Amino acid sequence: MITKELINEIKQAVNIVDVIGESVALTKAGRNYLGLCPFHGEKTPSFNVLEDKQFYHCFGCGKSGDVFTFLEEQRGLSFLDAVRELGQQAGFQVDIVPVQQGPKSHHPHQVLLDIHAEAGKFYHALLMTTKMGEDAKNYLHERGLTDQDLKQFQIGLSPSDPNILFQSLSKKFSENDLLQSGLFNTADTNMVYDAFQGRIIFPLTDEEGQIVAFSGRIWTESDRLNKQIAKYKNSRSTAIFNKSYELYHLDQAKASIKKQREVYLMEGYMDVIAAHRAGVENVVASMGTALTREQVQHLAKFCQKVVVAYDGDKAGQAATAKVLEELGQFQVEVVRFPDGMDPDEFLSKNSPQALQNILNKSRMSQVEFLIHHLRPENPDNLQMQIDFVDRIAPIIANTKSITAQNTYIYKVADLLPDFDYSQVELAVNAVRLHQRQERSRDVSRQEMAPPLVREIPQQLKISPLIRTENHLLYRMQEHAYILNDYRLREDFHFYTPELETLYQVLKAEGEVSSYELAQMEESVQRAWYRVMEERLPEDVGQDELEELEARRQREWMRRENQVKSRTIREQTHVGNDAAALDELAQLIAQKRKME
Ligand code: CTP
Ligand code: MN
Repeated sequence: MITKELINEIKQAVNIVDVIGESVALTKAGRNYLGLCPFHGEKTPSFNVLEDKQFYHCFGCGKSGDVFTFLEEQRGLSFLDAVRELGQQAGFQVDIVPVQQGPKSHHPHQVLLDIHAEAGKFYHALLMTTKMGEDAKNYLHERGLTDQDLKQFQIGLSPSDPNILFQSLSKKFSENDLLQSGLFNTADTNMVYDAFQGRIIFPLTDEEGQIVAFSGRIWTESDRLNKQIAKYKNSRSTAIFNKSYELYHLDQAKASIKKQREVYLMEGYMDVIAAHRAGVENVVASMGTALTREQVQHLAKFCQKVVVAYDGDKAGQAATAKVLEELGQFQVEVVRFPDGMDPDEFLSKNSPQALQNILNKSRMSQVEFLIHHLRPENPDNLQMQIDFVDRIAPIIANTKSITAQNTYIYKVADLLPDFDYSQVELAVNAVRLHQRQERSRDVSRQEMAPPLVREIPQQLKISPLIRTENHLLYRMQEHAYILNDYRLREDFHFYTPELETLYQVLKAEGEVSSYELAQMEESVQRAWYRVMEERLPEDVGQDELEELEARRQREWMRRENQVKSRTIREQTHVGNDAAALDELAQLIAQKRKME
């Protein structure tokens, strides 16, 4: 059993400097250790390990945590696995969990290509020319595809019988080769079954246009109502098919991609076909929301600019943010479809011209997309605001044009009640300064300059209210007598929700242990590490706590007023003058009180 006590014992038995030191070269710098951050690419060390507090923090990417978090982040372990592993190393009685490794294979083969070509013809003919295909063809017609489209994309139909394809291809190919193709399954009974049964077939081609796999979509009404059946089913990996490398429609799109010098990246087959129907040819699909490294390298053979046009739903938008990270080497723009639609749905409700327009004329820059995508769900939540600024500042700082930067800073500040233009600007400048120092250190590194401890002052990024509350909580966790004083004040609470959560734990337990922390939401964990990062004089000043209290109240009022002013602006904007006046009266009353 892994108990809270055991976790504490393990943590005390290991030294975070040793654990991290195994994979990161650390140099002693003052009281701390410094190295290159393993979580983001950097050339100047900003990864700090604090031995006395047993945690790490990167001033570049903002990651921080204790020895367990480090293993979780670095190796993708769960908290408990991290505990187990360290416990094991430190000689405690804990179970070990084996690490798995995935298989890989890769070899082209002509006969497999021939089998796929034959199968493709078979499926297509079945859809286009037989009675059996009529209903399926109607389904596709209803979705807006013409016979010409069906031909262009060689769409087919697999019959719902057990092994018609197998019987047909057995006349031409050996059973052994057929079984290697991935198009058939064998059961215990020695029977061979077609892998695709009763599905509309999309052939997947390599960049030369040779069919290397198929994807089958359900289409009958009963199948569509049956939640047990997967909508799409793909060929398994074979010697000629690596799903992580192929891009749907690349063979037909490549000429246009080269000519236009850009490619639209969509999620699905039907989206690509929709674009084609609207006259847009330079488009491929990643075949799902995960764009792999291999697909990215594949695209790089053809152009340097990608317009990401994933589905407008939540999953598609989240996937877009991920894809932007993968597409670092490309110029990137983003198209967002309204009302959660994908390109195909958009075309079903709008004209081809409208689809062309949205693809061509309503593109956003990456940064605009990220501002919209990362913006706090609840803009009144301080923690969410800080996290947002932390994430967006480096993105803005990396924008080349200064005018664009200013626009972005303005947009961000406008979204946040606790930040004004200058605070966001400070955060962006801090990142820029950091980067400039990294660059100049690259030059001086050649002269073997000693490592330079450079930190972006955290205070720049945090609103004064949180700064004050951090300070207070730090003193509480440091001195039992201070915590006790506050314990007696039953009406006391922190204004920052995450700090309040931590305070409740501290009050109940007398400490915030790794175990406790691991159960909390990430935002609370990060708040805790921000508190731990406070650099305060060892002695508590004479009036320190009174001053903190006064500042805390003052900053809270100021924030309240800022929120009120914003409401007034908004209400005035939508023409609700009565509500605006009401808020205004309250605001004036409060300002008087503050004076
Ligand atoms: N996909 C897949 N396997 C699945 C689901 C999806 O390979 N089980 C891939 C397919 O390439 C699919 C794409 O992910 O085209 C996007 O999936 P989804 O948005 O669910 O399908 P659509 O392309 O919108 O297809 P349809 O309009 O026919 O529903
Ligand atoms: Mn879709």
